[in-house]
Amino acid sequence: MVVLANRLPFDLEPQPDGTTKARQAPGGLVTALQPILSRREGAWVGWPGTPDTELEATTTDGLTLEPISLTSDEVDQYYEGFSNATLWPLYHDAVAPSEFHRPWWEAYRRVNDRFARRAAEVAAPGATVWIHDYQLQLVPQMLRALRPDVRIGFFLHIPFPPAELFNRLPWRRQIVAGLLGADLIGFQLPGGTRNFVRLAKSLLDVPTSGGRLNYDGRTIKVGAFPISIDSAAQSALAATPEVHDAARKLRADLGNPSKIILGVDRLDYTKGIDVRLRAFRELLAEKDPSVDDAVMVQIATPSRERLESYIRMREGIERQVGSLNGDFGKIGRPAVHYLHQSLPREELAAFYVAADVMTVTPLRDGMNLVAKEYVACRVDGGGTLLLSEFTGAARELRAALQVNPYDTDGVKDGLRAALNMTTVAARRQMRSLRRQVLTHDVDRWAESFLSALEGTRDHVTEARNR
Ligand code: ADP
Ligand code: F6P
Repeated sequence: MVVLANRLPFDLEPQPDGTTKARQAPGGLVTALQPILSRREGAWVGWPGTPDTELEATTTDGLTLEPISLTSDEVDQYYEGFSNATLWPLYHDAVAPSEFHRPWWEAYRRVNDRFARRAAEVAAPGATVWIHDYQLQLVPQMLRALRPDVRIGFFLHIPFPPAELFNRLPWRRQIVAGLLGADLIGFQLPGGTRNFVRLAKSLLDVPTSGGRLNYDGRTIKVGAFPISIDSAAQSALAATPEVHDAARKLRADLGNPSKIILGVDRLDYTKGIDVRLRAFRELLAEKDPSVDDAVMVQIATPSRERLESYIRMREGIERQVGSLNGDFGKIGRPAVHYLHQSLPREELAAFYVAADVMTVTPLRDGMNLVAKEYVACRVDGGGTLLLSEFTGAARELRAALQVNPYDTDGVKDGLRAALNMTTVAARRQMRSLRRQVLTHDVDRWAESFLSALEGTRDHVTEARNR
């Protein structure tokens, strides 16, 4: 199998002494795919995270990393520009304005073409090629033109928007045609599938019937495949004595408050970090709870730091944290502890174990794996999850306390209810959430996607018959 994603699982940075420094790449895509690929042989084609670096392919434990080099201009135009300043906001309910620039589109096409060519080089005859996410939507069609023998799957990790938003894209037809190069197109939720089918019909006149589209003489399957985490591994990590001790120490370091409220996110404007800070501020102003009773910890991984919208959002959040601590904190007892850092998995697990209330309040999110990680870590059966109804996870984690992140009073009520939930009610909630997360893990997701892909047409035979 060959996997294509914008990023490799590791950011690889060449050092002056000739060695290469590797760090886990940020985001949910890598969290989900890494355990799957570590159990299979194959290749992962992606960008190593640093511009203007040419790296050789390397193989460890049966997985070959195939680095794609991007110039600084391509990082500006393909990654920061078209992927993250055009598509990302548009696909997330336009919570920020999208910018449309023709040179960005050209760079997107050029980089997609580079990915397609590399996949065509490394894929064995009749191989399965699995392409991921919004940065690579043209690759399915490009790869099909180069290698009609391979089986092509595409999975979108973020929401697929309704026609009312998607149709703003000047290159809307090219993107839908690009995706239709795949044999199977997977979305997180049925809503995304419906949006796509409707657009394929209206933009390209594609006939459809029961989750199948006919285009270019081929049948393409579409469907929803909600992604997940390596639930057993996450649970096992949380159950180790080291994580347990670290969680106890964290609690003590925070001054043994009665309640710890946690947020863990990439620092992204879709995540609604401002929403939970605002709700917490209003609760503290009403002294329910007081700063002696509850403390919030917000851990935010740096993300897309050169983009204007991210710079502004970070400033806004840091202002909120500063004013919350200025207005409500005491010496040795800040209201909010804020870390703008990426933490090792073990440390993150200790935070999940220590937190009484986990706040996940995105304005829109394809899935949100943090919510599932929290649940998997609660081996003790405790903890309460406050979850935005606009995440993909909300469809599966029905037992969570769900809130509309646009409704500040609703979020306040939800947070207050989470803080005051009885142990019995919290345990009941967590039992139901754990049942869901432990049975619907990332292996099940991959198997259901890959077996649906296997069930598509027989490529090798068709290619030979041409
Ligand atoms: P997204 O893909 O948009 O970043 P997800 O919630 O689906 O959102 O996935 C985020 C992933 O990044 C999770 O696996 C989470 O553990 C990880 N993560 C988030 N914040 C941090 C952090 N501060 N340090 C380390 N990992 C983090
Ligand atoms: O699915 C969301 C996503 O964009 C992934 O493609 C990516 O792994 C993650 O968020 C992190 O974003 P970036 O690669 O831009 O740092």
